[in-house]
Amino acid sequence: MNQYIIKGGKPLVGEVVIGGAKNAALGILAGAIMADEPVLIENLPNVNDVNVLIDAIAGIGAIVERIDAHTVRINGKTIESVYVDYEYIKKIRGSYYLLGALLGKYNDAQVALPGGCNIGSRPIDQHKKGFEALGAVVKIEQGGIISAHADELIGSHIYLDVVSVGATINIMLAASMAKGKTIIENAAKEPHIVDVANFLNSMGANIKGAGTDVIRIKGVEKLHKSEYSIIPDQIEAGTFMIAAAATKGDVLIKNVIPKHLDAISAKLVEIGCEVEEFDDSVRVVAKERLGNTQVKTLPYPGFPTDMQPQIATLLALSKGTSVVTESIFENRFKYVAELARMGADIKVEGNMAVINGVESFMGAAVSAPDLRAGAALVVAGLVAEGFTILDQIEYIERGYEDFEGKFIALGASMEKIDVNDEKALKKFKLRVG
Ligand code: UD1
Repeated sequence: MNQYIIKGGKPLVGEVVIGGAKNAALGILAGAIMADEPVLIENLPNVNDVNVLIDAIAGIGAIVERIDAHTVRINGKTIESVYVDYEYIKKIRGSYYLLGALLGKYNDAQVALPGGCNIGSRPIDQHKKGFEALGAVVKIEQGGIISAHADELIGSHIYLDVVSVGATINIMLAASMAKGKTIIENAAKEPHIVDVANFLNSMGANIKGAGTDVIRIKGVEKLHKSEYSIIPDQIEAGTFMIAAAATKGDVLIKNVIPKHLDAISAKLVEIGCEVEEFDDSVRVVAKERLGNTQVKTLPYPGFPTDMQPQIATLLALSKGTSVVTESIFENRFKYVAELARMGADIKVEGNMAVINGVESFMGAAVSAPDLRAGAALVVAGLVAEGFTILDQIEYIERGYEDFEGKFIALGASMEKIDVNDEKALKKFKLRVG
């Protein structure tokens, strides 16, 4: 087990290159099994959630060639099982995309119930409703296995009761190979929905309207080979934007689609940060302590819930009182207790956090409660006076590639060490003094 040790107080300066979008990768990898021909996927983030899904895909018999850390070739022609259940698959949210992909291709799927970060109850009723509308019988079996079976999948008109990223992608996957037309209304519009749709279209699917709230899919009989490069990760980029702002740094964040970052950029500008946009990069410069604001998480193009802990951390260091409202997940303020140990003044009431900005944080021993909260605690550690030790960084490694390496390259004093390695801890403390 590893932990991060951070000595805060240095502004981040320099350039960082953003990797492929984890949440797009999960949908795309699942979609890749739907062809009986080789599908090459590039710009894959080398993170644990993605690697677990790739193992699961190999586990059901697909040919998986890992060409390098960021490229994989998948051929679904040798798949011999529609049953996906092993220890790790339950831990990742994206496992449920195998349900849509297998159901679409074979009219049959059995997948262990998805896990993912513990940020709320995370129901899958909308996925179920979508599959049922396409003619499948969906059951929760013993041992937390979801099974979906149809004699024939037939296109349908589906109105989602809640805007769900997962349900939109899952229904898109299944409907791509259903008979006839499917319409998904009240669809999610996140950039990775568009990316998964573009990918499926590159395999011969017929999906229109992704990125709007009405998606139209004409089912095709077969999907074919393709080569596809995943879009940059909006949340990784946003996390580095916040880190630059919080440390009063100057960072050029490269390989991004600035449009996808609009909600984050707008908030940073509103509180006094400089954000300069280029074709495929953004530069974030903060010269002084920033101001306060109100943030409410919403489906895209609103402020992303996956950026909520990071912006709250920044606002906890800004002037005045800010309010952050979480409207997507009910249990996403668990990091507040950890931030309080570092000196933050945040009161949570229901889905709202009232933040009274403090001048600085003090380093402390803290623990990552989930992926994005873990990232926020790293940002806190980078700002804090003294040393911060952050445990449970396996959450962070689910979704950020070489997180520490990227911060170190920007000038941070930070290291990943074994939790029991007292010597490494002492050495680090001596080195950065
Ligand atoms: C995805 C992302 C996650 C991000 C979230 C919102 C992946 C692997 N994860 O999660 O990082 O935080 O989108 O942008 O891509 N809901 C239902 N019934 C359902 C499905 C969802 O009520 O069947 C509710 C959820 O409880 C939540 C809201 O809808 O309140 C949004 O969830 P959803 O967009 O589905 O999130 P995920 O796909 O789980």
